[in-house]
Amino acid sequence: MFYSLLRPALFLLDPETAHTASLAALKLLPGGAQTPGPLATTVAGLAFPNPLGMAAGYDKDAEVPDALLGLGFGFAEVGSITPLPQSGNPRPRMFRLLEDRAVINRMGFNNGGAEAAAARLARRKGRGGIVGINVGANKDSLDRTADYATMVRLMAPLASYLAINISSPNTPGLRALQDEAALAALLDAVLAARGNGAVSNGAQRPPIFLKVAPDLEPADVDAIARIAMDKGIDALIVSNTTISRPPMKSRHAAETGGLSGAPLHDLALERLRTFRKATGGALPLIGVGGIASADQAWARIRAGASLVQLYSAMAYEGPGIARKVIAGLERLMKRDGFTSIAEAVGSE
Ligand code: FNR
Repeated sequence: MFYSLLRPALFLLDPETAHTASLAALKLLPGGAQTPGPLATTVAGLAFPNPLGMAAGYDKDAEVPDALLGLGFGFAEVGSITPLPQSGNPRPRMFRLLEDRAVINRMGFNNGGAEAAAARLARRKGRGGIVGINVGANKDSLDRTADYATMVRLMAPLASYLAINISSPNTPGLRALQDEAALAALLDAVLAARGNGAVSNGAQRPPIFLKVAPDLEPADVDAIARIAMDKGIDALIVSNTTISRPPMKSRHAAETGGLSGAPLHDLALERLRTFRKATGGALPLIGVGGIASADQAWARIRAGASLVQLYSAMAYEGPGIARKVIAGLERLMKRDGFTSIAEAVGSE
């Protein structure tokens, strides 16, 4: 209600400025993790109070994870964070496609770097709540695989889980890490950096999730699924933004970058289904892309997602969206006769 009054003013600002303003507002909230309710679910050994998370890119520098949890999200994924700070692409680099309820961005991993984020995350340690850390490589890095390994080593003690983002379209060449040989080498390096041995003295060994693009051929999906399972990756996040352009109305529709929001919905759902088929349910999937309602979140779970995330819908619906989706999911789970989220995963 309050957001519907505020939105016209926010939408007068350019999208990146509005985003910065929303972060400033969230910093004023105390926040804190949700208590587990009827939607509580365990994935990759982590107990999620509910299955809805904030996707990466909203809180790139880990400034407001606790405020996001306080809005009702069951988990928050911060990042993408790269080893060194970088400014990203020139502005404007984020576009609101109002008529299409979509966003195009070509931010290019603007972030304050690993050191600053790690210091912030270290200060919140012990507060509870599931905070995933999404990591990327610097644009000018000569060895991107080494960047991921560095990030994993640095962030493992601070993360509930680590998300390896090799699917941003805005760092030239990054998506090539999804190719078979490159991916196998990358995952070897990442898993070695985390350490695969027994955990001793409470040292953390967080699960590792891999975030993939929606723009993949069936053969790519099969290869990625096979390598992820062979190597022991804990979950796949399906998906990042798309470089494809479904028919759209907005004047910004032809901007370069990754498309998210409503026009990504069908593609992301379809890609989730292909990954579900390729993994046979053996690997947890996290569904993201165009989710803006409880019905859509529920459909994604029924299509095989153990967890779901959203980002673009928060810009259009406001911060109340998390509670709204959660309340709706509780209703839908009951309506369809399920007693837990886990039971509903892949039941379509
Ligand atoms: C993103 N996304 C993203 N993903 C990621 O892994 N690292 C990142 O740094 C970013 N940055 C980013 C910035 C902006 C402005 C947007 C809109 C998106 C992608 C995001 O996490 C998600 O995968 C897609 O946006 C699809 O979900 P929605 O937005 O359709 O719910």
